[in-house]
Parts: sequence; structure tokens; C-alpha cells
Amino acid sequence: MASKIEISSGDASKTFPAFPVVLVAMGEGEKNVFTVGLVQLFSFNPLILGIGVHPSRHSYKMLHNLADFSVNIPGKELVEQVLYCGTKSGKDTDKFKETGLTAVPGKKIRSPVISECLVNFECKKSKALEMGDRTWFFGEVVHVEAVEGYTRDKGMLYWGGEFRMPGEIFRRR
Ligand SMILES: Cc1cc2nc3c(=O)[nH]c(=O)nc-3n(C[C@H](O)[C@H](O)[C@H](O)COP(=O)(O)O)c2cc1C
Repeated sequence: MASKIEISSGDASKTFPAFPVVLVAMGEGEKNVFTVGLVQLFSFNPLILGIGVHPSRHSYKMLHNLADFSVNIPGKELVEQVLYCGTKSGKDTDKFKETGLTAVPGKKIRSPVISECLVNFECKKSKALEMGDRTWFFGEVVHVEAVEGYTRDKGMLYWGGEFRMPGEIFRRR
């Protein structure tokens, strides 16, 4: 085994290979969309997703006041929109207008889903949990749609300033 070196707590999180990156959309009158790398499955039955949100985000305030949100998986062709939604705040920008992303009504929630994304999860907010410097908003998935022919290798990954696509399958379980 190669010898190990200590990694500072500031760099430790950067050792993870990558995480899926999603666009989270919300709102009824005022709508917003922002980019989230901290997304995780917390339960399979019922299906519950969690998103880790920093209190400085405009979306943080909105999510506290709303009953639902959507989690949308973008393909690589949406990388510029993903960057835009992850760097501009909905506090002073209409990100749907500026990116051309289309907010379409959810089938089972009041918040919109994003038409251009490959998969749309409609989530009813079930809980908010403060954890360190983030709050995790959990959502029970009440409806899901995916484009025909979708496979999970089409979803984008992100970490440490790098966007990438999933790599080779080298073994099956
Ligand atoms: C690739 C990427 C991933 C991000 N992941 C998160 C995240 O998991 N949680 C978070 O709070 N902000 C995350 N951000 C930052 C927000 O998307 C960004 O601050 C955004 O402008 C907030 O928009 P809002 O003020 O309209 O809510 C990420 C940004 C990028 C570019």
C-alpha cells in the first residue's frame, strides 16, 4: 500500500470523485431555479431526495416558505445554464428568462419542472434539517418523468470545479 499524507479539513471534501449535479426549481408566483451538487437519495420506499442548501441562497428562503420543489437532471448540453443558475441569484435575476430554460407546471406539485432536463422529480417537502453550514431540505417524490431512452450515464457530474460525464462500466454486480 502506498504511504498516506494528511489532508487538511479544507481539502478533504475535494477528495470525493464527483457528485451528480441537478437544477432545483421552485415557486408559484415568483419562480426560481438554482444549481445543486449536494443531492442525495435518503430513502427508496418512499423515495425521498435531500438537497443541501446554504443559508445565503435566495432559494433557501423560498424553500423554507414553500411546500414543494422539483429536482431536475440536466444533460451535458445544459452546462452553461447550470453554471449560470449556480452563479447568479434569483434575488435580482429571472434565471428562466436569462437562460431560456422553460418552467413547465408540475403534474403533482405547484412548483415548476424544467422542460429541457432529462429527468424531473416532483417533490413534496417533508422536512428541513440544519446540519453544519447547510440545511438539508428533504422531499418525498410524488411524480417522476424522464425523456424516452434516458440512461443514467447521460446525467452530468460535478465536483472541485470540474464538470464531467460518468465513465466506463468496468464490472457489473
Ligand atoms: C456546480 C455547482 C454546484 C452547486 N451546488 C450547490 C449546493 O449543493 N448547495 C448550495 O446551496 N449551493 C450550490 N451552488 C451554488 C448556488 O447554486 C448559487 O449560489 C446560486 O447562485 C444560488 O442561487 P439563488 O440565490 O437564486 O438561490 C452550486 C453552484 C454550482 C455552480
